[in-house]
Amino acid sequence: MELLDVLILFAAIVFVRLWWRYWSVTGGGRKNLPPGPPGWPLVGNLIQVILQRRPFIFIVRDLRKKYGPIFTMQMGQRTLVIVTSSELIHEALVQRGPTFASRPADSPIRLLFSVGKCAINSAEYGPLWRTLRRNFVTELINPARIKQCSWIRSWALEHHMKRLRREASENGFVEVMSNCRLTICSVLICLCFGAKISEDRIKKIENVLKDVMLMTTPKLPDFLPVLTPLFRRQVREAKELRKKQMECLTPLLRKRRSFVENGGKVDEEMVSPAGAAYIDSLFDLQAPGRGRLGEDELITLCSEAINAGTDTSATTVEWALLHLVTNQEIQDKLYEEIVQCVGKDGVVTENDVEKMRYLGAVVKETFRRHPPSHFVLSHAAVKETELGGYTIPADASVEFYTAWVTEDPNLWKDPGEFRPERFLDGDGVDVDVTGTRGVKMVPFGAGRRICPAMTLGTLHVNLLLARMVQAFKWLPVPNSPPDPTETFAFTVVMKDPLKAVILPRRN
Ligand code: HEM
Repeated sequence: MELLDVLILFAAIVFVRLWWRYWSVTGGGRKNLPPGPPGWPLVGNLIQVILQRRPFIFIVRDLRKKYGPIFTMQMGQRTLVIVTSSELIHEALVQRGPTFASRPADSPIRLLFSVGKCAINSAEYGPLWRTLRRNFVTELINPARIKQCSWIRSWALEHHMKRLRREASENGFVEVMSNCRLTICSVLICLCFGAKISEDRIKKIENVLKDVMLMTTPKLPDFLPVLTPLFRRQVREAKELRKKQMECLTPLLRKRRSFVENGGKVDEEMVSPAGAAYIDSLFDLQAPGRGRLGEDELITLCSEAINAGTDTSATTVEWALLHLVTNQEIQDKLYEEIVQCVGKDGVVTENDVEKMRYLGAVVKETFRRHPPSHFVLSHAAVKETELGGYTIPADASVEFYTAWVTEDPNLWKDPGEFRPERFLDGDGVDVDVTGTRGVKMVPFGAGRRICPAMTLGTLHVNLLLARMVQAFKWLPVPNSPPDPTETFAFTVVMKDPLKAVILPRRN
């Protein structure tokens, strides 16, 4: 090799090295982004994340230790700013709420299911979001409507208890998550469409909507849109699924529309009076920039409510029961409170659960110890801004890792322990779960985008738990103790779904 060749080779190595170093830096630099783990040119941290083959939440948990309260991850073409500290979450979501209240751009697949961001959770901060959210709050979850629809929960719970008894006598144990999902889903379908439908149809809807959630979780082209043409099959599958979703829900929609238009004569299927179902309020809604909503948008909005409310609440009941099964003392205390309030055979009502302090403490401790979502949904700044001394570009996804604050030993005593009593006379007494006064636990998010249905979600959890503990003693399956390992499936669930033996308290 001649000297010139050696020099050229050397220069090439130096060039590649500098090029690699320049393009692999995440954060910092002239843009003043928060620092972050070095990545690879062009793809940033994307390949490293994929190669780890574990849920993103666990990767972030580790990175937090190294990069602190705010850091950047470059995921292909998307910049993610991860915010993990109580102070910065409070500053962004509450003190400067309007600035961080938008949502980032969506992938073509997500846009297909949201009909171009016509859903409360995905709409950008603006008039469309405001109208949809206001309508949701006044029509679906105002206290009068919740009371008016309490018969739906009684009906669904009756079926729930029968199903548990049947499953226990057939298998010797019950599976918690699948039963709770089905029951909550049936309540939400009835709240949305005013219809009481068969369990088979509910299961079908539940399955299709679960597939929709799977389909809309981030995939490679979300981070590298240049690759979208290579994923034509995925787009085709998404279109087929959307068609299935429409086919499965449109008959309910049309039946409800003709029911409302024909004076609302209640029949066996259409059981809610005209005006009482969520969809009734959407038929005539004038949505800014869209006018009256079409069938596509109506199905999207109802699916959103059903999806948002099913897994979140069912997950919470599953984790709560795990602790009741493994800690009989807590279960006994809860049972005593229920008996004191309504007796052994009295029906637990929605007013009753509000009075049960220990039940409230068990549910809050479950939300703290097992927040269903470790991140709130992705946020975006309405315009370029700064946070924690760093620049936050308008096109970055801002991810608030809210679960961390519930694990922080500076905020909670023995944060890993499950101790409902902390909400009666300990470090949880004055906690504000809306995060307005400070962020110590925010299972529903905080600020402008806080879950609009937190009271309804909590009611579902309270009622299910109270009724299930009143009727049965919950025990571990012999020789098969429950495994508390977590995994991510839309929400953070038990890797091995909880199974329990149930003994009727009264015969
Ligand atoms: C235990 C139950 C629930 C939990 C833990 C929960 C949690 C959350 C969280 C963390 C967010 C994201 C907040 C953010 O992005 O900052 C959210 C948003 C939302 N939730 Fe819930 N949720 C629950 C029940 C429900 C129910 C029952 C419904 C509907 C019937 C619902 C409808 C929504 C909607 C529409 C949004 C989007 C709000 C927006 O973007 O403005 N949720 N929820």
